[in-house]
Parts: sequence; structure tokens; C-alpha cells
Amino acid sequence: MELLSATLARVKPSPTIAVTTKAAELKAAGRDVIGLGAGEPDFDTPQNIKEAAISAINSGKTKYTAVDGIPELKQAICDKFKRDNGLTYTPSQVSVGTGGKQILYNALMATLNPGEEVVIPAPYWVSYPDMVLLAGGEPVIATATLEQDFKLTPEALEAAITPKTKWFIFNSPSNPTGAGYDRDELKALTDVLMRHPHVWVMTDDMYEHLAYDDFTFCTPAEVEPGLFDRTLTVNGVSKAYAMTGWRIGYAAGPEKLIAAMRKIQSQSTSNPCSVSQWAAVEALNGPQDYIASNNEIFVRRRNLVVEMLSAIDGVTCPTPEGAFYVYPSIAGLIGKTSAGGAKITDDESFAAALLEEAGVAVVFGAAFGLSPNFRVSYATSDTALKEACTRIQTFCAGLTD
Ligand SMILES: Cc1ncc(COP(=O)(O)O)c(C=O)c1O
Repeated sequence: MELLSATLARVKPSPTIAVTTKAAELKAAGRDVIGLGAGEPDFDTPQNIKEAAISAINSGKTKYTAVDGIPELKQAICDKFKRDNGLTYTPSQVSVGTGGKQILYNALMATLNPGEEVVIPAPYWVSYPDMVLLAGGEPVIATATLEQDFKLTPEALEAAITPKTKWFIFNSPSNPTGAGYDRDELKALTDVLMRHPHVWVMTDDMYEHLAYDDFTFCTPAEVEPGLFDRTLTVNGVSKAYAMTGWRIGYAAGPEKLIAAMRKIQSQSTSNPCSVSQWAAVEALNGPQDYIASNNEIFVRRRNLVVEMLSAIDGVTCPTPEGAFYVYPSIAGLIGKTSAGGAKITDDESFAAALLEEAGVAVVFGAAFGLSPNFRVSYATSDTALKEACTRIQTFCAGLTD
């Protein structure tokens, strides 16, 4: 009998984690590598949040908790949804998990039957299609090109929906493109969804607070209250509060769905870390001013990267509205050969040669479902970004026909 399950054969390991691991291995082996692969802020977790965790430890809040979150955190989440998004939820409509990742996974596991479809706009966060496959469903990819600013059109959404569609996964600002949908663009999509009452909406708002210039974040249930009863609004503390390692994510939605997610969690991880939950209470209830100062830094870095990459012949790098990624196209470089003799046939060979010859780790676009592109995470120091972009410029200048 085969040891590994047939379901496992349907999925691949996370390519972003693979790039980060490869860069770390090369560094450990003494190579001079700049990693632009990781999806996490380089800022430290704010002190008030750390102190809340320390005080939780000191006061013995170190035991199992309620499966899907302590009441204090659920209340803080309800307050956050009211304050930031104008959405009214009660604690029984809230689920807290070990990162937004577990929340998304629980929701898909709790709802998908074999053959049911999930519409995922591409470029997508790498985990969506594989989570859908793990849960037994079928990902249906609806592509948004660079010419469309990486934003799905209502026509493309309409065309992707079938009677078997269970979920539409929405992510704005987006990982990997940073593209953010404004209210009108989102309303055009929610209008389509209103015509298909069997489709549920899973909105991944993880980058809500990382919104720049005059872009204003909005979420589907806020833009179209008619979708409230079939929307799961997912968020977390990882990105806005520099808390990736604490592993706290959350969602709010209809009670029946939240209860089903609780059932999965009760038979897998039991509850998210008690200490991290207390830290998340402080993150959501405490001062929010450092988000704006962090965003000033992110904007400066985004502008630096966009400017330096746009200066390269054969590379097109749009300016995104949010998150901490850019997603340049290398269409103009395909077919060329690197100074080290590597043939650039696609974005995967580009990223491999860039790492090998220039010591810069980026994630190739095929991993996110749109080629030929690559993703740069600019959540790293200005110095590292400048050096990395200079290396990318030099590498590209060395390409020959
Ligand atoms: C779009 C998106 N959603 C969800 C997550 C999961 O975040 P976490 O599990 O740290 O809450 C990430 C992390 O990279 C992400 O980029």
C-alpha cells in the first residue's frame, strides 16, 4: 500500500517558502545573497504588544483556551470590524486561528466537496490553489493581466462562475502584485456576485492597513451589504503589526460557517497560542499610530524599487497601491542569455540565474499563476533594496540576444 495519500499528490510545497529557504541555505554556506522573497515586514513587533505577551505569561495565561479564541480577542475583533470596516459582527460570528493561513484552510476544509469549484483571480497568493486541492475542491483560475493593472474584470469573474462554484477568493491589496481595488472596481465585482446567490465570498484582507497614496481600502461586505450573509471576511495581525511569528489570524462570517471551522480546529490544533492571543488583543485595541509611520517607510521603498526596476530595458514595473510587493514583467528579456550562459526561457530560469549569478533571491511568477513576471518583496532595508536592484540592473544589462 502506498504510504502517501492521493490527496497529497495533488499539491506542491509553497514556492515562496522554498525560495526563502534556498536563500538562507546559500547565505549559511557563505554566499553573498540578498533575499527579496520573504512575505514579512522587517520591522520588530511593537513594544506594547510584546509587553502584553510578557504580562500574559507572568499572569499564567499559559493554558488551553476556547477553541476559536478567547472572548477578549473576539470582542477586540468585533470592535475592529466595526471601527475600520463598518461591519457589525458578534463574537459568535468570529473565529481566531493560528494565522490567516489556518483560517483560510479551515474554511475550505469545512465547506468543499469533491468537484466543487473555487474561483481564484491570478496572480494569486501561492497557497490558495493548493489549499483548495487539499480540501478536495477544484481551483478555477481567472486571470488579470498587467495591462488590467492585475485587477480582475467583472466579465472575467462572470465567465469563471459555474453552477459548481462554491467560493470566490478575493485579495486586495494583493500578494503578489500589491494591486488594490477601489470601491468602484470592487462594486463591479460584487454586482456580478449578487447575480449568483450560490457563490460564497472569501475575502482575504490581510494587507488592509498597507494601503498607500490616495488608495482607500474597502472589503466586499462593506461595499455590498447584500453579500454580508455569504461572506467570510479574513484578516490577521501578521502584516500590519509585524507579528508573523506569533501566528494569529481571524475571520468573521455566518455562525454556521464559523461553527464548522471550529469543529475542524478542535480536531487539529485545538486553539491558537494563548500568549499570542493576548498580544493580538493589545495589537487591535492599543495605539495604531505606528502603522502610518511604517507605511511611510514602505512607500519610500516601493518608489525606490519601482524606479530602479522600471529603468531596466525589457522590464515593466507598475506602481502598486498597497502591500509590500511589486510584480514586474520580464516579457522583454525572454530568449536572452545571461553573462553566465543561462538561457532565459521563462521567469523560473530568470529567477534561478539571478540567484546564481547576482545573488538576489526573488520568486518567479509562474508560482503565482501569471508569467513572465517575478515578485519582489520590498519589506527589507533601503540599503539591501538599493544593492539588490543595482544587482538586478547589472544582471539584466549583461543579457545578450
Ligand atoms: C495574501 C495572504 N493571505 C494570508 C496570508 C497568511 O498570513 P498569516 O498566516 O501569517 O496570518 C499571507 C501571508 O503571507 C498572505 O500573503
